[in-house]
Amino acid sequence: MARPDQKLLDELRQLRDQINHHSRLYYVEDNPSISDAEYDRLFDRLLQIEKQYPQLVTPDSPSQRVGATPSKKFEPLPHRIPMLSLQKVTSFEEFIEFDRRVKEGLETTEEVEYITEPKLDGLAVELVYENGMLVRGSTRGDGVTGENITPNLRTIRSIPLRLSDSCSSKYPLLEVRGEVIMRRPDFERLNEALIAQNQAPLANTRNGAAGSLRQLNPSVTASRPLIFYAYGISDTDLEGLDRQSAAVDLLRKEGFRINDRTRLVRGSGQVEERFKALAGDRERLDYEIDGMVVKVDRFDSQIMLGQISRAPRWAVAWKFAAEQAETVLEDVIFSVGRTGVITPVARLKPVRVSGVTVSNASLHNEDELRRLDARIGDTVIVQRAGDVIPEVVDIVPGKRPGEATQVVFPSKCPSCGTKIVRPEGEAAHRCLNMACPAQLEGRLIHFAAKGGLDIDGLGDKLARQLIKANLVKDPSDLFYLEKDQLLPLDLMADKKASNLIEAINRSRQTELPKVIYALGVVGVGEAAARLLAEHFVSFEKLEKTSLDELTHIDGIGPVIAANIFEYFRNEGNRVMLDRMRRGGLALPNYQRTGGTGVLGGKTFVITGTLSKPRNHFKNLIEQEGGKVAGSVSAKTDYLLAGVDAGSKLDKAKKLGIAIIDEDQFKQLLA
Ligand code: IVH
Repeated sequence: MARPDQKLLDELRQLRDQINHHSRLYYVEDNPSISDAEYDRLFDRLLQIEKQYPQLVTPDSPSQRVGATPSKKFEPLPHRIPMLSLQKVTSFEEFIEFDRRVKEGLETTEEVEYITEPKLDGLAVELVYENGMLVRGSTRGDGVTGENITPNLRTIRSIPLRLSDSCSSKYPLLEVRGEVIMRRPDFERLNEALIAQNQAPLANTRNGAAGSLRQLNPSVTASRPLIFYAYGISDTDLEGLDRQSAAVDLLRKEGFRINDRTRLVRGSGQVEERFKALAGDRERLDYEIDGMVVKVDRFDSQIMLGQISRAPRWAVAWKFAAEQAETVLEDVIFSVGRTGVITPVARLKPVRVSGVTVSNASLHNEDELRRLDARIGDTVIVQRAGDVIPEVVDIVPGKRPGEATQVVFPSKCPSCGTKIVRPEGEAAHRCLNMACPAQLEGRLIHFAAKGGLDIDGLGDKLARQLIKANLVKDPSDLFYLEKDQLLPLDLMADKKASNLIEAINRSRQTELPKVIYALGVVGVGEAAARLLAEHFVSFEKLEKTSLDELTHIDGIGPVIAANIFEYFRNEGNRVMLDRMRRGGLALPNYQRTGGTGVLGGKTFVITGTLSKPRNHFKNLIEQEGGKVAGSVSAKTDYLLAGVDAGSKLDKAKKLGIAIIDEDQFKQLLA
């Protein structure tokens, strides 16, 4: 291999510095100082040198953004500190209530300092910098574990590959969080290009960002115009960083893009002013936002406030009111849900509402249909509120054409033909035939969904096929399927059949909340399923519970309690559950935290590099009744410290907290 001389090494270093400088001006500050051609010249020269001397290519070289080898699939990557979600408010009154709870939690009557930021509508990611180098990047995933998309994130020009020396020596581990977005004009251009290549266009800018980022081939990501906005760091106990605003300042200095509508304010009045200003700006922005995130600025206050389930008590998303649009009602169909409810669904002339093309919208039920008196051909107003299914909220009577036809609610189930009933006191019409194929399809999809048993590959198409071929009459049949039975199905290749059988196998080992959710009891979503698992710990106890006990669980209302009780009394359900057990579905006990194990009530913080992933130790601690916190505070009982423990170790020493290594941890368990 040729040996580079000092002159060349100097040139290379200068080139990289120059390129980094100019790409920051261009991609982060939107303020380029040289022409594109000039920039390309620098870049070409860099590539030329690196081609000649491959030994000089470093992972932080600007050339490394272009995209490395494609990966087969994304590896799971646990977040050292979970990425939380946000509670929502939709009005000033609700925000005041949030502010009141914050003050109560902080035991203060003084106005609180908040940082307000636009709520960007893209994909949340985490970037891990070790000794200043970008080493890993992942999606948020379920908040605990994300997908490793490091090569893809490296292609985004507004993500620094390397931090300054002063930053990296002070913070050898820095986890930066933020949102990857796609601007609207870029999105439209991309869609035009996709259509021209005969590919499916993307639904909205969020999908544009997510779809571009989750490409298996990073060079596809590299070709997509993505932007990363940093909005925080994972740790709240880093030396010299005592506030969100200080963290944001540091990130800005390190070359991250910080949204220019980020503000530090005091008290709910100023928060409201910011909300109004942002709502006014919304139309003018060339990227989508769906509200404003308000965070308590001081980290010690954040720690004091803590979190409830998956959301912090110190932050809230104040969402914009739903957007509306006018369009034409082309037809009404009646869909049968997994619980037998018949919902009239409006088929609309496609229209864009808050960044999404809407062509179906709910008309809820017969009463609503009557109230609206919506007729085919009518001009209607549709509304989308956040992630909720779009709905028709009104019609425009003045625009009714002469030949508008009335909509008749059916008397028979459109799927199985059974007579539809409207139970007394209910707004919904239902098909009560448990064997109705449409219901079964819904139940099966719910059972296999991510929050349920998470059976990869079992979507609506396959569910329909399995039912039609009489292979599945209820979800328990899944556990008895054999590959040979699948092969005759349409478009079922050998590989696909094996994958499905494997996915079903995997689903036999799951967690209690997921099983409870998967059953699809009306009203029992993921949150209620978790509450039930926490309360009953074992599936057997839940099955045998009394209505009285259910009604007394915090967070479970009387209607849901009754649904759960009825579910387990139903003979058909019992037979099905029994078949699932015999088919190998494990019903493990819930791993309760804060319980009575040998570590009962103890709080741990884990830091540094250990012999196994952190989650391993976290699981052990939680199994024994302990808790794992993200940061060291006076409430910490033990710091489990591995190699290269950084600031947490210092802090624990300062606070006089017991510091243990892996061996001592094993002794504690013994
Ligand atoms: S902070 C506890 N800041 O909102 C802090 N999130 O529900 C949680 N998001 O998936 C995140 N803009 O993708 C934060 N300025 C912002 C945000 C933001 C958008 C998204 C993020 C996350 C979701 C949280």
